Amino acid sequence: MGYKEEIESLRAELDLHNYKYYVLNLPEISDKDFDMLMHRLQQLESEHPDCYDPNSPTMRVGSDINKDFVQVEHEYPMLSLGNTYSISEVEEFYGRVSKSLDEDFEICCELKFDGTSISVIYENGNLLRAVTRGDGVKGDDVTDNVKTIRTIPLKVKGNYPQRFEMRGEVLMPWEVFEKLNAEREALEEPLFANPRNAASGTLKLQNSAEVASRGLDAYLYYMLGDDLPHDGHYENLQEARKWGFKISDAIRKCKSVDEIKEYIDYWDKERKNLPVATDGIVLKVNSTRQQNELGHTSKFPRWAIAYKFQAERESTRLVSVDFQVGRMGTVTPVANLEPVKLAGTIVRRATLHNNDFMTSLDLHYGDTVYVEKGGEIIPKIVSVDMEKRLPGSRKVEFIETCPVCGAKLVRYDNEVAYYCPNYMECPPQIKGRIEHFISRKAMNIDGLGPETIDLFYENGLINDVADLYSLKADEIAGLERFAERSAARVIKSIDDSKSVPYDRVIFAIGIRFVGETVAKKLARAFPSIDLLAAAGLQDLVSVDDIGERIAQSVVSFFHDMRNVNLIDRLRNAGLQMKMDVDTKKASDKLKGKTIVISGVFKKHSRDEYKKMIEDNGGKNAGSISSKTSFVLAGDNMGPSKLEKANALGVKIINEEEFLDMLGE
Ligand code: IVH
Repeated sequence: MGYKEEIESLRAELDLHNYKYYVLNLPEISDKDFDMLMHRLQQLESEHPDCYDPNSPTMRVGSDINKDFVQVEHEYPMLSLGNTYSISEVEEFYGRVSKSLDEDFEICCELKFDGTSISVIYENGNLLRAVTRGDGVKGDDVTDNVKTIRTIPLKVKGNYPQRFEMRGEVLMPWEVFEKLNAEREALEEPLFANPRNAASGTLKLQNSAEVASRGLDAYLYYMLGDDLPHDGHYENLQEARKWGFKISDAIRKCKSVDEIKEYIDYWDKERKNLPVATDGIVLKVNSTRQQNELGHTSKFPRWAIAYKFQAERESTRLVSVDFQVGRMGTVTPVANLEPVKLAGTIVRRATLHNNDFMTSLDLHYGDTVYVEKGGEIIPKIVSVDMEKRLPGSRKVEFIETCPVCGAKLVRYDNEVAYYCPNYMECPPQIKGRIEHFISRKAMNIDGLGPETIDLFYENGLINDVADLYSLKADEIAGLERFAERSAARVIKSIDDSKSVPYDRVIFAIGIRFVGETVAKKLARAFPSIDLLAAAGLQDLVSVDDIGERIAQSVVSFFHDMRNVNLIDRLRNAGLQMKMDVDTKKASDKLKGKTIVISGVFKKHSRDEYKKMIEDNGGKNAGSISSKTSFVLAGDNMGPSKLEKANALGVKIINEEEFLDMLGE
């Protein structure tokens, strides 16, 4: 078998296993075997660029090229739906349709998935383009990101029209959402309020490899085109299922209001067992001919309507408010409630987010409050029952000093949060920083956890992360719950962490706003901690995806002598403080050259080009000026950059010319 045949057969095999695993939930081969096939295909494709296919299964892993989205006009405008909250309005809708049509009709009932909508165009069986709803007329081209969603076929199979459009909802399953938020919480990054925000935020990430890692899913619920197989919407969706699309099973054709009510009642309860969020039911006139006859208003189709479920709400009493201090010093108010059952779980606490949110509720101790669990996983207090307020009750005020160490709280410009500024001495901050440092994605020190950190701290053995490296086995063996063997094991895993790579050390030291991905980018751009410490605001913001907020935080971190000392102690302990690989200069070919990168590249990622420039003695710059030596341009170079380069007479070279220049 020649390489072309092998590539084709691997693609077909991987597409089929992908469909069986993600759409049908019936895996046939092990993950390991799947990965092996995928690696083989990746290898063959990189050896044979002539076999490039934008819809190869290898495209599912995304790429780390950052892309600005291009706006695309929808072929059919993406209307949204009119909402109702009551059965009587559903009856009115049914009556209106009945009167206008004056013939028999069927209503297709479906779940209303709570994510972000997407339009995907297929041509000759291939995924051509995926666009967000945007303003309904035009949206963002997010094709590369959508290709990473395993339930959306890149190629369809069977008897499909030459060209058609599928619309659906991109979703983040509850499980994935909870995990993502837990990770963000550990980083004290703002949490996503619900899976809908998480899904739309993820779909708009500029780095498709990161999207691929976020575990999005999708249901398709609407087919459009000039040449569809059936007049019936329901029938078309059943056809689409055969072509490889993930179509919900919870879809039913109804012939009367009673049948619709039955469907609503059933799913209002049953939806709580689904792995994804739903917020209602969509009712659609089934026949496309009848849909066209009914038409639409300027905003909504007249042939469809959304019935929204009532968010579950209960009343209970506010007992007290705790103020929690995070590892970055953020103070979060949390309400303690009289336990109440809500949406299947007992609710005892509800976050009050910050002072602004708390004040807007005008809470008093002992108030009767309403808690709701809508699309959100964390219950929230939505209002206070003023009629039940106890006479003379005390208003809940935000605290002025840290509840743990007593320091006066501060509030930074433009931020809603209050902070405890006692960075060095406030126990939850000290312990929180150490817990973050040892965590799996940071230094990954086995055998230590929040309780052991607490134990070591309370016994005066550690006060910062550098102290971990001078711990002795006999010191900890003496502590309660510590046998000699486990003490030795802890010391060994601390010792092992000295080989954790530099980028994870940057993540571990806990610079505000520097998460895992940002840490990697910083490590690549500043291959030693000394370079990072010396970087100014301008140097930092010229790195992809590093904005002012992060840059400012990095600069402040290294301005603080206490951090500088800590880094020195970690360095002396033997931690990796520079990039391991051959970061030394490859050549001096670009010495004295200031280069601006723009557009999308094929052969290497933007970051790789940036590194190449630095490795060959050149300097990266973010914007074009008279000092720019040349622009390294990929596809779709920004029009304003192009204009500026032309106006200043700055040379533009493409990636091939650039690689030639370096002799690659
Ligand atoms: S049909 C013209 N079906 O709800 C009909 N929409 O408020 C177009 N949605 O923008 C939409 N589940 O994002 C339809 N089964 C479903 C849906 C659904 C969720 C979303 C969609 C739409 C919004 C309308």
